[in-house]
Amino acid sequence: MNNSSINWSALGFHYTEPDYIVRAACHDGVWEQPYATKDKFLHLHVSATCLQYGQEAFEGLKAFRGVDGKIRIFRWQENAKRMQRSAKALYMAPPPTDLFGDAIRLALKKNMRFVPPYETGATLYFRPLLIGTTPRLGVGPGTDFELIIIPSPIGPYYPGKYHCTTFIVNRHVDRAAPLGTGQFKVGGNYAASFRGTEAAHAQGYDCLFTDAKTHHYIDECSAANFIGIRESKVESRIEYLTPRSSAILPSITNDSLMKLARKMGMKVIRRHIPVEELATFSEAAACGTACVLSPIDKVIDPDKGVTYHICDEPGPVVSRLYKALQDIQYGRTKDTHHWCEIIDK
Ligand SMILES: Cc1ncc(COP(=O)(O)O)c(C=O)c1O
Repeated sequence: MNNSSINWSALGFHYTEPDYIVRAACHDGVWEQPYATKDKFLHLHVSATCLQYGQEAFEGLKAFRGVDGKIRIFRWQENAKRMQRSAKALYMAPPPTDLFGDAIRLALKKNMRFVPPYETGATLYFRPLLIGTTPRLGVGPGTDFELIIIPSPIGPYYPGKYHCTTFIVNRHVDRAAPLGTGQFKVGGNYAASFRGTEAAHAQGYDCLFTDAKTHHYIDECSAANFIGIRESKVESRIEYLTPRSSAILPSITNDSLMKLARKMGMKVIRRHIPVEELATFSEAAACGTACVLSPIDKVIDPDKGVTYHICDEPGPVVSRLYKALQDIQYGRTKDTHHWCEIIDK
């Protein structure tokens, strides 16, 4: 496939084969230098701990072609830190931040032709993957690991118009336990969530997970964090609410949006959010690297026989936050937080 044959706007969130992936191995705590390879297959032992026991973690981040033609990699250092936390939680060797950054830059350099042009809405997505490669039969962690960076261009999340999605509450499937691995980006959480997400998709919705202990509080929106927006009752300020939970992934997008919201004068509140509190929001959204900020029009709660109608169209606050973040990612405004690494190409 050459560049001219890629219809960037029609890519969707699907895998497009890059020219190169990047690999770096770690044996007994010693990391080797990352290298690029065209081979997309692994020669992996059948008893590798990633296959046997799910000793695996991953990440997701994007590079954007800016208005000035430069490429911006968004907050990759935060992805490195999160992968290090996931690695430690699963007894894997955490890839050092510098090595992680070198691997991402090499993956970008070797796949420049896959960075979509500005204004297509498409981006170059990187999927860093960390796997345990030691053969083991007895249950336990291994000593050998591999970091793999898989780049793939992805299309705009909102082809056409910025639009809302509808969620359905599922209290019958738990994505992650309160003291489990929900706060880490490990494959097992996602396999465990399929029963909820696929059931929701079959009905035409996305899945809203509640906390596994009480099923009373909002945990996550499929694979994204939840935010709710409303006017404060006590002061003339807008409130930005997002769940505090030990079972949700600390979203880098949510962290960025919270910082922008505070700058805009909003009050950011992180606490348990009961499902019924959905009735108080004038706007709500799911946030994450893939969707950035996806407005929610309604949430169906079949167990309680209630539908929370939030708004018909993307609301003004969510739209403003979305634009503020995208302006930084596309270089349309000053990156005062130093979130983007600019690759001058
Ligand atoms: C379960 C889950 N929650 C939240 C997020 C959003 O995190 P981020 O904004 O870092 O992409 C993701 C995506 O990575 C996710 O998989």
